[in-house]
Amino acid sequence: MLVFALSIAVGILVWVGYNLIGEIGGAAFVPTGQKEIDRVLAKLNLKPGKKFYDLGSGDGRVVRTAVEKFGVKGVGVELNPWLVWWSNLKNCHPNLQFVRKDFWKMDLSDADYIYFYQSPRAAKRLGKKMNKEGKSGLIIISKAFEIRDGNIERKRTVVIENRSYFIYQT
Ligand SMILES: C[S@@+](CC[C@H](N)C(=O)[O-])C[C@H]1O[C@@H](n2cnc3c(N)ncnc32)[C@H](O)[C@@H]1O
Repeated sequence: MLVFALSIAVGILVWVGYNLIGEIGGAAFVPTGQKEIDRVLAKLNLKPGKKFYDLGSGDGRVVRTAVEKFGVKGVGVELNPWLVWWSNLKNCHPNLQFVRKDFWKMDLSDADYIYFYQSPRAAKRLGKKMNKEGKSGLIIISKAFEIRDGNIERKRTVVIENRSYFIYQT
């Protein structure tokens, strides 16, 4: 019984720890609702076979939907190992992979689409990063927070269930 209680306590501590780390580098885990995901992805005219990253993929629902419904090749990048484990358990598709990494330390130059739901500070930082390494034509979908980088052009804003999605192209 004591071992069980201790395991639960350690699990909770690890979870909180990773969420705090997430707050420093981006945001804690707050999932996007499935209906909202379906609606926003439907507006993007995603091209099958192109590479779609969800930076901070949580439980993998956004990138899974993009792969299953729109035929892109999906990569979910997530810091929290429990969420990566859960994503792998729930979402199985040959064109879908999950990696446990810090997206700030990744080379994203092969991305065609980046979905980003983090924090205002992280959105600004993403602008700088993609300015340097984003390929020409890259589309960035930033949920809730504007990128505000003069060199990344905002194409449009999509509002779904009172939430804004800012769509950019490099
Ligand atoms: C607001 S949630 C978004 C989850 C998912 N994209 C969605 O919309 O349902 C942000 C996620 O980013 C992860 N995260 C934060 N900073 C990160 C980093 N530097 N590298 C990888 N993942 C990060 C957090 O652990 C959290 O799961």
